[in-house]
Amino acid sequence: MRRGSIVRITIYGVLAGILASVVAVVVPWLPTSASEEMDRIEFVFWFTTVICVGVFAIVAAVIVYSVLKFRVAPEDESDGPPIHGHTGLEIVWTAIPAVLVTAISIVSAIVLAKNDDAGPNPLRIAVTAQQFAWKFEYPGESPVTSGELVLPVGQAVKLTLHSLDVIHSFWVPEFGQKSDAVPGIETTLVITPTRTGEYSLLCTELCGLGHATMRASVRVVERAEYDEFLAGVEAGGGAGADTGEAIFTTAGCGGCHAFEPAGSDAEVGPALDAVDPGGAPLEEFVRESIVDPNAALAEGYQGDVMPNTYDKSLTEEQLDSLVQYLVEGQR
Ligand code: CUA
Repeated sequence: MRRGSIVRITIYGVLAGILASVVAVVVPWLPTSASEEMDRIEFVFWFTTVICVGVFAIVAAVIVYSVLKFRVAPEDESDGPPIHGHTGLEIVWTAIPAVLVTAISIVSAIVLAKNDDAGPNPLRIAVTAQQFAWKFEYPGESPVTSGELVLPVGQAVKLTLHSLDVIHSFWVPEFGQKSDAVPGIETTLVITPTRTGEYSLLCTELCGLGHATMRASVRVVERAEYDEFLAGVEAGGGAGADTGEAIFTTAGCGGCHAFEPAGSDAEVGPALDAVDPGGAPLEEFVRESIVDPNAALAEGYQGDVMPNTYDKSLTEEQLDSLVQYLVEGQR
């Protein structure tokens, strides 16, 4: 090979590498990390990206060089030279990718193992998913329940995920880690938040009509603020968590229904501001609609959309509060 050819291939390779690097660096492919686990995932991402950029640059350089150098003249109908391969070249282009892919798999395996390890003493929070809401139970003197996930910064947290109905999936983009909540089994997820702030928990498994609305707010706070939050919910007495309004939120009603007092305007199910009980006593009708949603369908809405598990997931007192809250909010 002539020296001029090597120089040209090198120039094409450098240009292709710069182009690919700009695309990799300038486009914000990942959200800004807010957990140790996401930091490690980012490391794997960049490790793989650097390798990809290198391979791309070499392949692109050879293709561009070949296209320009070996282009045939417009009227040239003759056959190309008979070439029967090059054993040395084939060994090289098989061996190098094999080494690179093995390196990626080793780095990924190490990161997976580390991201699954919560250390000796993690904070344990139970996460319950149901159509279409998230509920969080914190350890404390008495179990503390909230519709909001609050985490102390710098503390390893082991989430145990449960589902009451279908498969859901827990994902906070800034935390990186993701895991399904599967009915009948317990799955876990480790998060070690590194940055205080507000984030969104998204359900990333299509779980029904209200899937897109199945979100919860996540707050990462200083330790003192976390303790205050726990004490606040605890002192509000499980009672704070048992007001009709709180249940409306934690049970996910607002994910599908519009209800002005709660500030929700979703349109998956019928609005709850002006319920027409069709002659039945209003309170009875509201209660029946919650525990047995298919008993009387609002006009224009299908059955089997709303979960029929609320008589199991809510206590009798919680159900009473929720019914009261809805009855009082009628226009
Ligand atoms: Cu739960 Cu999608």
